[in-house]
Amino acid sequence: MKQIQINLNPSIPSLPKIHDKTKINVRYALIPPYVSVHIYWNSQEGELIYEIEEPLLSEEEKSFLEVLEKNLAEMVNLNLLVEKTKESTIKYIEKTSLLLIEELGLKINEDSYTKIFYYLFRDFIGLNEIEPIIKDFFIEDIECNGVNTPVYIVHRLYRNMKTNIKYISMEDLSSFVEKLAQRCGKYISYASPLLDGSLSDGSRVNATYTKDITSRGPTFTIRKFTKIPWTPIQLLNMGTLSPEMLAYFWILLEHKSNILISGSTASGKTTLLNAIAFFIPPEARVVSIEDTKELNIPRENWLPSVARTPLGQGKTGEVDLFSLLKNSFRQNPDYVIVGEVRGKEAFVLFQGMASGHSSISTIHSDSVDTLIKRLETPPIELSPTLLNTLDCVAIMTHTVINRQQTRKLREIVEIINVDNKGVALTNVPFVWNSRDNVFYFKKDSKVFQKIAKKYGKNVEELNKEFIIRTRLLYELQRRGIFEFKQTQKIINQYHKNPSAVLSAFGIK
Ligand SMILES: Nc1ncnc2c1ncn2[C@@H]1O[C@H](COP(=O)(O)OP(=O)(O)OP(=O)(O)O)[C@@H](O)[C@H]1O
Ligand SMILES: [Mg+2]
Repeated sequence: MKQIQINLNPSIPSLPKIHDKTKINVRYALIPPYVSVHIYWNSQEGELIYEIEEPLLSEEEKSFLEVLEKNLAEMVNLNLLVEKTKESTIKYIEKTSLLLIEELGLKINEDSYTKIFYYLFRDFIGLNEIEPIIKDFFIEDIECNGVNTPVYIVHRLYRNMKTNIKYISMEDLSSFVEKLAQRCGKYISYASPLLDGSLSDGSRVNATYTKDITSRGPTFTIRKFTKIPWTPIQLLNMGTLSPEMLAYFWILLEHKSNILISGSTASGKTTLLNAIAFFIPPEARVVSIEDTKELNIPRENWLPSVARTPLGQGKTGEVDLFSLLKNSFRQNPDYVIVGEVRGKEAFVLFQGMASGHSSISTIHSDSVDTLIKRLETPPIELSPTLLNTLDCVAIMTHTVINRQQTRKLREIVEIINVDNKGVALTNVPFVWNSRDNVFYFKKDSKVFQKIAKKYGKNVEELNKEFIIRTRLLYELQRRGIFEFKQTQKIINQYHKNPSAVLSAFGIK
């Protein structure tokens, strides 16, 4: 028999953003070479389907699998197994199952064995039917509400969907929930029917265990671990921007300025947005709004909301960005962060800016000129007065340097004035030069002048602060301090007691 190859760390596919759900039709690998998922719009049912495609077994193969599973279960101590690495466990299962095939005299050909092995892997090492979903990078939530009802998932890009997984027998579902509990190092039973635990990858698990005959039986929810955002220092390490650019954002955010991050698809806009959100003062109230959960601003005073797309046909249950944003201003935020603006919600965002709320958002556009045109024409249709509330635009770009894909903050453009014909006068304090791959600090900031006027400070004071913070950020990078919690602590401390932080880092 040839060696079994299961790819446990497949590369993350880049999926298209598709706003019209009825046009979604994508397929990607979950457990190569065995399993993929097909996500498509089912027009008969009027909803999106998450269809897992596993190897198909013939009746004979199924009976082989059953025999092997039964015998393996008797031989193998699962509790001992899960402690080991997955790779070594796979080897162990493979060795044991080959031994069993020989001992029991099963006539399994190589092709069948390869397929059967996948199921042994799935059920012994993985989490049975839902193992492929667990492996999907794009999944946020997995939800099972009992027997005879499909398992639902929440996808990062395509949101709520029905899967083709359904538990038919109460017994199977009960024993699966017991297995979940065991994997969390906990115990669930009729006597203690509630489970709240976490899996080894950090995912949260909630489950109920019930024999109440009127209910649909046990239920479970798995909330996949969402990844920690990159810190400003990590972006420095990757050469995405300069310490000066970061210090500039820090000063602007402290003074409640309005920032748009612009650029083409996948140029790193959202990543930059998450990173600069570190500079929002710790006590400020932040409200965020988006339609795909990508923002990650771990702080106490954060109220996140995600637009809800309707399940099934029609518009019932829909909560769009526009209404969420309008509602958010009633929550009296200091900062409003919108994941991405595309349509009429941009108008509400600028109204918010005009009424004194600081706003940050991303928008799809390659240059300031096209950006301003987009903002002035339908469906957004901003007036020059509203456009003037925008302080600056950061333009992200995607390029190849030394044959490496990189993301750069190409320039920061300040909006000085938009005249009544809609023509913008701008100032560009920071640029990245592609020829020498160097970031330049070209001109004094005009936004600093605006801030000075508004807050009764003088510009020299702000410039001095800008230089000190640049040095601090540079020093953090030099000392290799970039980890999430540590960075957050230092930046928050700086807001309370700057001189203590500066002296700790030897900055005078
Ligand atoms: N500064 C960076 N350096 C290297 N990789 C990055 C950087 N910023 C983002 N990426 C990677 O690029 C991908 C896209 O990033 P991100 O979602 O921030 O882009 P975006 O411009 O917001 O995309 P979209 O147009 O889809 O909203 C992600 O996989 C992310 O990990
Ligand atoms: Mg984005």
